[in-house]
Amino acid sequence: MEVLETTAVIRLACNVLILASFCSPTLFFFLVIYFMLFLSLPLYIPLSPLLSSSHSSPNPPQTHIHTYASFIEPMSPFKLFFFTALILAAFSASVADFNSDVNVAWGNGRGKILNNGQLLTLSLDKSSGSGFQSKTEYLFGKIDMQIKLVPGNSAGTVTTFYLKSEGSTWDEIDFEFLGNMSGDPYTLHTNVYTQGKGDKEQQFHLWFDPTANFHTYSILWNPQRIILTVDDTPIREFKNSESIGVLFPKNKPMRMYASLWNADDWATRGGLVKTDWSKAPFMASYRNIKIDSKPNSNWYTQEMDSTSQARLRWVQKNYMIYNYCTDRRRFPQAPKECTASS
Ligand SMILES: *[C@@H]1O[C@H](CO)[C@@H](O)[C@H](O)[C@H]1NC(C)=O
Repeated sequence: MEVLETTAVIRLACNVLILASFCSPTLFFFLVIYFMLFLSLPLYIPLSPLLSSSHSSPNPPQTHIHTYASFIEPMSPFKLFFFTALILAAFSASVADFNSDVNVAWGNGRGKILNNGQLLTLSLDKSSGSGFQSKTEYLFGKIDMQIKLVPGNSAGTVTTFYLKSEGSTWDEIDFEFLGNMSGDPYTLHTNVYTQGKGDKEQQFHLWFDPTANFHTYSILWNPQRIILTVDDTPIREFKNSESIGVLFPKNKPMRMYASLWNADDWATRGGLVKTDWSKAPFMASYRNIKIDSKPNSNWYTQEMDSTSQARLRWVQKNYMIYNYCTDRRRFPQAPKECTASS
């Protein structure tokens, strides 16, 4: 039994590693080194008697049975190091990495990719902010990003995470976090542009302190709808209402952008509160970026089930602070998509 256990564990570990290596070039590299070592060093000596005993001998001698402990013990610290490193690499491989997915696009060194691509920090001081962008564009996709916002007095700062296409009639889907004075809540500003036309703002306060920890902000964009979620709770759905003449972004691939910049002429209480530069540099952190643009996945046909609809109503009732749909000063008649029932 123990023999089976040991081989099963090894086989499982190998499968996980091989699968994971398809997702991560770093791991693939690791794996190549590993197999070179595997061939040159007798790392799995305990396996060879198993292999030879499995086909012929009906009565394998006791010495061929290896427990899990006896498998680990004979490893030199060197071998153990590689084995551990591989297991760790396998775990980290499910998380994409900033080095392979994005470029720091501006800010002259104020944007930094750290921890082997696992963390990205943006900073802002009086002379400049900073930003990064995805290396490729996507036509539909689901993008998750964990963000920890500028703590303390962040008045006048704007931290963003959005998708945008090129040109003068661009499409865009926005998350913008407008900073505030210490103790006052951030405003999460959202908007959708199609062919250069936006005017679809919805704003929210959050039900947690977004500066204390990382939280996951996601954009799901498929041909039928755009769903913005915060920690898997939907805060906004923008449906494709082309059938009643409302434009929907669906022809132009978009790039992912993120930035930290200063907008104290409008961001905090409409520009009344200015940035306190004595607190600079301001810093926001990003991690666990996940980009899925393969159309044969769930997100491509995803809809809002009744649970998500209930969550959405909860957010809109308790945390929405602005909705273009109900702003009669701007839109004496409600925009068509606001009154359409589904
Ligand atoms: C800042 O705090 C004030 C007071 O609570 C609030 O009205 C406002 O929405 C907050 N956010 C911004 C970006 O001004």
